Amino acid sequence: MERTPVGIILNGVTGRMGYRQHLVRSLLAIRDQGGVPARDGSRIWPELTLVGRDAGRLAEIAERHGLSAYTTDLDAALADDAHQIYFDAQVTAAREKAIRAAIEAGRHVYTEKPLAEDFLASLELARLAAARGVRNGVVQDKLFLPGLRKLKRLVDGGFFGRILSVRGEFGYWVFEGDWQAAQRPSWNYRAEDGGGITLDMFPHWHYVLEQIIAPVTAVTAVTATHIPERVDENGGHYRATADDAAYGIFELAGGIVAQINSSWAVRVHRDELVEFQVDGTHGSAVAGLRDCRIQHRGVTPMPVWNPDLPVTEPFRAQWQTVPDNGEHDNAFKVQWEAFLRHVVDDEPFPWDFLAGARGVQLAEAGLRSAREGRRVQIEEIPR
Ligand SMILES: NC(=O)c1ccc[n+]([C@@H]2O[C@H](COP(=O)([O-])OP(=O)(O)OC[C@H]3O[C@@H](n4cnc5c(N)ncnc54)[C@H](O)[C@@H]3O)[C@@H](O)[C@H]2O)c1
Repeated sequence: MERTPVGIILNGVTGRMGYRQHLVRSLLAIRDQGGVPARDGSRIWPELTLVGRDAGRLAEIAERHGLSAYTTDLDAALADDAHQIYFDAQVTAAREKAIRAAIEAGRHVYTEKPLAEDFLASLELARLAAARGVRNGVVQDKLFLPGLRKLKRLVDGGFFGRILSVRGEFGYWVFEGDWQAAQRPSWNYRAEDGGGITLDMFPHWHYVLEQIIAPVTAVTAVTATHIPERVDENGGHYRATADDAAYGIFELAGGIVAQINSSWAVRVHRDELVEFQVDGTHGSAVAGLRDCRIQHRGVTPMPVWNPDLPVTEPFRAQWQTVPDNGEHDNAFKVQWEAFLRHVVDDEPFPWDFLAGARGVQLAEAGLRSAREGRRVQIEEIPR
């Protein structure tokens, strides 16, 4: 079948996300399936150029996956017209500069979240991309996960009646790095390197709430650095200067209240690493990454508070599982396919830089709320 090649620069491919989710699970998987169907009957075919700081590590990854193009010279890669798309999965602090250069070079840009370290910089990137006329997008992978797609299906189908509230629990124990290696990179725990769970997770919560439940109108947050000292990849002790937990209350349009705890200092007593419970007048749901369970008003039990008696009902067993009703591919891959169709066929892609900027706006508002001890309203961004 005829191919429509699309040259893609992949920056940050030695990192956790860049390698596993974007290179292997998305772009190489797209090549393995024979590309993405384009409107003209051809297949959109990602041609990959790996970019990073360490030529040896890039060569090793390229060889492992039968790729030939890699370089440590981002400017040269951006100057090459064979490259239509620049993708960024670098550490957050390195992102803004690289994206600016990519926009200036006239490349379409797709990037990991958060779009930039602060709201003004994010807005500026959105403005620059619009002015230069390049397509732009930010990863919003959670929207494409089976559990959250099922939740969205329930909302769209009117299952909940009037939605009242959302409670989200995200987190797991990230080892301190001394007696067991930390399972996340150390920059996450240093504010000066772009770390912090609020900047990391509030952009996710923003699009999950905005696109599945309702837009966020205000936030009240308390942040903490529960583990003040950690050990890095080289065995060195360092001071954790960034927040490792954020306890947020988000007010949504329509009077809905969402509370979401995000923490790298909790132990999991849940079915999944993140779960959202949505309660509505007609029913409730608990959605995780993969599964979603529901309880309709018609089968809601009537517990009576009596601490003298053992629990009277098997509450968790009373919920029903929402069926898949279809195939659910890797979330990052699904969004990559949409971005490629956006670039090649002008298909709509609502997850753009402005959407990414709104996520950073919420993170910044959450941090301000915590710092100043007050509720912060979210200003609407004029289009
Ligand atoms: N969508 C998601 O679910 C999700 C999950 C985790 C991380 N992320 C985002 O992905 C990005 C990368 O996170 P990660 O966990 O893969 O990080 P990582 O530390 O594993 O990888 C970072 C990459 O950036 C490169 N890099 C460039 N400049 C650097 C510098 N000055 N210092 C250190 N590394 C530098 C590294 O070589 C590496 O390739 C972050 O912006 C993070 O917010 C998204």
